[in-house]
Amino acid sequence: GKFENILVEKRGEKKNVGLIQLNRPKALNALCDALMKELGTALDEFENDPEVGCVVLTGSEKAFAAGADIKEMQGLTFSQTFGGGFLNHWNRLASNKKPVIAAVNGFALGGGCEVAMMCDIIYAGEKAKFGQPEILLGTIPGAGGTQRLPRAIGKSKAMEMALTGDMINAADAEKAGLVSKVFPPGELVDAAVKTAEKIASHSKLIVAMCKESVNTSYELTLNEGMHFEKRIFHATFATKDRKEGMTAFVEKRPANFTDE
Ligand code: HXC
Repeated sequence: GKFENILVEKRGEKKNVGLIQLNRPKALNALCDALMKELGTALDEFENDPEVGCVVLTGSEKAFAAGADIKEMQGLTFSQTFGGGFLNHWNRLASNKKPVIAAVNGFALGGGCEVAMMCDIIYAGEKAKFGQPEILLGTIPGAGGTQRLPRAIGKSKAMEMALTGDMINAADAEKAGLVSKVFPPGELVDAAVKTAEKIASHSKLIVAMCKESVNTSYELTLNEGMHFEKRIFHATFATKDRKEGMTAFVEKRPANFTDE
């Protein structure tokens, strides 16, 4: 294929789920620059594919991703990282309009944990391990580990992970609210695809509005957020899909959404 570090295919009965598998087994899916660029390209293609309504991002059973590529970072200086905007493009995943489900088996460490947190939903395999071990390398998380993690699991647990570098297992990650469900490793990707198919069966237009509204809750005060939500809610009444959804309910038939 055209990618060297990822595998890409469409899944689901209606081929409406985009599946991206990180595939750099020699380095436990360390997120080298080439891999992150390919991930961006694959996301662009699914965003532009009108069939696809949701994306699943996974790795291998051993590793979702063991972090940014330490061998690429080892020789860098401050002026190269600051001046070159090092890893600024990682934010591509967080700005995806279509929902992304992370299916995490094995290690999700450093940038790997941060990439999982850029996704909208995280499912984990029973042997998953989450951690922010940057402190052990003399650096700190650089893509959300000090920002998204405390929002996800609270200050004390986030501080504990970031300051000790210790990993947490799937059961603790579920208890803390970092992941929403845990599955046997071999069932994880199918379960994520099943949820993705459900999301993809809804209006893509309304799904994007709903995702944007939830994400806005992290940016605004409660009153501003409530105002934003109400405006988007009102905007759904400008769509054919809102009319179709309510009409189908009243007529006791399944809705036929057209993403308009
Ligand atoms: C480059 C990596 C890597 C990484 C593993 N490898 N993690 N290469 N960058 N992050 C490579 C190893 O060098 C080795 O290659 C091969 O993958 C297998 O790894 P082992 O260590 O032999 O496997 P194992 O003993 O099973 O240990 C697994 C592990 C360990 C516990 C996950 O690999 C580990 O601690 N990795 C580093 C985790 C980490 O610190 N991540 C945070 C990175 S900093 P060779 O060729 O030697 O056999 C970061 C900052 C993000 O993510 C900032 C974003 C803006």
